[in-house]
Amino acid sequence: MWRPEERIKWKPDPGTWPDAETAARSELFSPVTIGPLELAQRTWVPAMVPWRATDDGFVTPEVIGWYERFAMGEPGAIVVEATGIRDIPSGPLLRIGNDRFIDGLKDLVAAVRRASGGKTKLFIQLIDFLAIKRRPDPEKFFARFLEITDRHRKAIGGEDWPEEKIRAHLAGLDDEAIDGVLTPRELDSLRQGHRERVTDTHLPHIEELPKVLPGLFADAARRAEAAGFDGVELHYAHAYTMASMLSALNDREDGYGGPRENRVRLPLEVFKAVRGAVSGNFAVGCRYLADDCVEGGNTVEDAAWFGAEFAEAGFDFLSLSRGGRFEDAAQPKVGEAAYPYTGPSGYECMPQYVSDEFGPFGRNVAPAEAIHDAVRATGNRTPIVVTGGIHGFEQAERILASGKADIIGLARQSLADPDWFRKVKTGYGDEVTVCVYSNYCEALDQKHVQVTCNLWDRVKLDEPDVAMTVDGKRRLTAPRWERDLPQAGDETGKEEIDA
Ligand SMILES: Cc1cc2nc3c(=O)[nH]c(=O)nc-3n(C[C@H](O)[C@H](O)[C@H](O)COP(=O)(O)O)c2cc1C
Ligand code: SF4
Repeated sequence: MWRPEERIKWKPDPGTWPDAETAARSELFSPVTIGPLELAQRTWVPAMVPWRATDDGFVTPEVIGWYERFAMGEPGAIVVEATGIRDIPSGPLLRIGNDRFIDGLKDLVAAVRRASGGKTKLFIQLIDFLAIKRRPDPEKFFARFLEITDRHRKAIGGEDWPEEKIRAHLAGLDDEAIDGVLTPRELDSLRQGHRERVTDTHLPHIEELPKVLPGLFADAARRAEAAGFDGVELHYAHAYTMASMLSALNDREDGYGGPRENRVRLPLEVFKAVRGAVSGNFAVGCRYLADDCVEGGNTVEDAAWFGAEFAEAGFDFLSLSRGGRFEDAAQPKVGEAAYPYTGPSGYECMPQYVSDEFGPFGRNVAPAEAIHDAVRATGNRTPIVVTGGIHGFEQAERILASGKADIIGLARQSLADPDWFRKVKTGYGDEVTVCVYSNYCEALDQKHVQVTCNLWDRVKLDEPDVAMTVDGKRRLTAPRWERDLPQAGDETGKEEIDA
């Protein structure tokens, strides 16, 4: 993963933990309205893909175990991982592109309700993404994948050469020479792997995105409601279709690219279709980028403008992320696919403890404030969720008290300790396992293997019924909080008294 060149090592500092009375009076543990719903507290577990679904996208016991464990901490809301809205194979990524997925999702919802005692609201993140290929072996690229054009013939002075000769010639050129022959797009396909873009309107399935996506998202949201979720989070963030439609890099010429007014059209049309497909009791919000963090992409000014548009359109919440784009992703190895969290924008999305002078904690707070202000200026109270390096009560409380955001997202901190919420609320904050922002979990995500945290995945392996990763080496969920475990004499004592 890319890291800032300053290489300053930061240590998380959660500050002072509140006692139970202070927590009870706090903003963080006060309720907040999200459209038709009320969250019991202003805490949020943002979407995190744990790579635990079946290869066909179905819920597994391991998926249920993952969400059940978060629910035991009783946060205000949990967002289920990015879940594919199309009925196409997507590896072990959850899917919701057909009614056959509803039953498994119902089980997941029931498990979260049970484990949180009904205290935690549950959303599911709906995602659409475009095709990406692995970085090709250059030999194969020149022999087969590259489409030979007159531009290539002219550049190498081979106008009358047979195609085979041109291919062989190109394959023999060094990097510098090839830079002058291939287009930037062809170079990208050679060095990063071919990746579809929303601007590839010469491809019919890309051209028709504005026609098909509202229906696909709406059908997925209808299934989410049927499965019992409280709402959906439309995934308009990171490297995926909807974020790319919003991005300033989108120069489509069909009325869906270019100026902001055009770029926001499809996200609004999707929202409208989704809203129309679900009941008034069901929340519909989105996650989008407070900053694309790539050259030529959206800035916080764009994001503030979009925030105002979303609020006016009636979105029930806006959850902010940042970066995580393909444009600056690191070059993958031959045979591997590019990953959008490996460049500077990926760093902004999931900043690690090795950082710059600003550090990894709260990088999205100032942008959130600008977006919050823009939303409030429209007269709407749409709640804003801010996430990124937040791990302490005081840090969260300061953000809320100063009106920079309305809800606090803790992604990796919730993974490091799913009981953070209950521990802090009940005055046991000093028992929190604080995330060290090592990004071990993120590296697992990158390899598409079952995500765990290295602060707990090899401890207490002798506990009864510990679910393990497929390689049998790591536990899949955090150990229970000691105080939740039956204490010696608990049960027998009770029985004796009852008798
Ligand atoms: C393992 C892992 C998987 C993630 N998957 C998603 C995802 O499915 N959708 C999403 O919007 N963000 C995803 N994220 C980003 C997080 O939601 C969050 O924005 C990011 O980790 C920064 O917040 P934090 O500092 O509190 O961890 C993922 C992060 C991690 C570590
Ligand atoms: S592995 Fe654990 S400690 Fe490291 S960043 Fe992930 S959640 Fe935090």
